Amino acid sequence: MVDPTVTTLRVESKTRRADGVVTLQLADPLGRRLADWAPGAHVDLVLPQGVTRQYSLCGDRWDAYSYRVGVLREPDGRGGSAYVHDELWPGDLVGVGAPRNNFNLLPSEQYLFVAGGIGITPILPMIAQADLLGADWRLLYGGRSRGSMAFLDELEVHGDRVRVHPQDEAGLLPLHEFLDEPRAGVKVYCCGPAPLLDAMEAACAGWPRYALRIERFVAAHEGPPALEGPFEVELARTGATVTVSPGESVLDAVRTVGADTLSSCRQGICGTCETPVLAGVPDHRDSLLDDDARALGDCMYICVSRSRTPRLVLDL
Ligand code: FES
Repeated sequence: MVDPTVTTLRVESKTRRADGVVTLQLADPLGRRLADWAPGAHVDLVLPQGVTRQYSLCGDRWDAYSYRVGVLREPDGRGGSAYVHDELWPGDLVGVGAPRNNFNLLPSEQYLFVAGGIGITPILPMIAQADLLGADWRLLYGGRSRGSMAFLDELEVHGDRVRVHPQDEAGLLPLHEFLDEPRAGVKVYCCGPAPLLDAMEAACAGWPRYALRIERFVAAHEGPPALEGPFEVELARTGATVTVSPGESVLDAVRTVGADTLSSCRQGICGTCETPVLAGVPDHRDSLLDDDARALGDCMYICVSRSRTPRLVLDL
């Protein structure tokens, strides 16, 4: 189905920022203001052939008339980033979804930011906000080499708050040294490739619960589903019931009985398909909900999550 939140924006400029990284500046062709967003937010870019990709907003959140996204060329990707790099140019139009935020910057007086590669993009507006609010913050930024690390020029103004750590010069990120001892009241934000996020989760094991917040661009690996066999899903608004077979997603199953549910990543990382749960116990398999939200069980991401009980009732 067509996503009503997608608007058509024009590429105002395209700028090379590092090896394999470009930024796009996007604006409404008629100069209208854009939907508001906060640090940590991402948008969908809707590319030809219905390909949709999520990119963090990395520009000035107080600029109401343009968005900036940073795009890494992914040689093993499914073609979205190659299209942006090779075929999208200033003046072209592109579908852009409304900003969504699964990686909010929570209030704190002290932040530690860790970014790996293109994971710097959601961190940039967080730094701007932390700076504006006078918070104490530091950034550890790693990448394969200096040439592959975008926005080093923009980060220079922050002096020794920013520690740049190219792997070919300095090895792996010194996470334990950077984090130091666990401390209450410090918020730790990390974005980057999965091995870095896994290493951060291990390094922050002794920190207060929820001190660490991460954003995954690739879904975390989940074990086998709680129920091996099929289960039933009832759509409370229409009364329809559908059986979800083992190889099928809840999203696909409910669409066969007429549910108008939006989706984007289909990996449990973007938040588009969030659905309220009225009865039954979901088997959460997304990369978005924390342990408390999972235990609450009142919503689920139906592109990946399944059921622990023979029947689920959803507010659809
Ligand atoms: S479609 Fe992205 S979380 Fe379900």
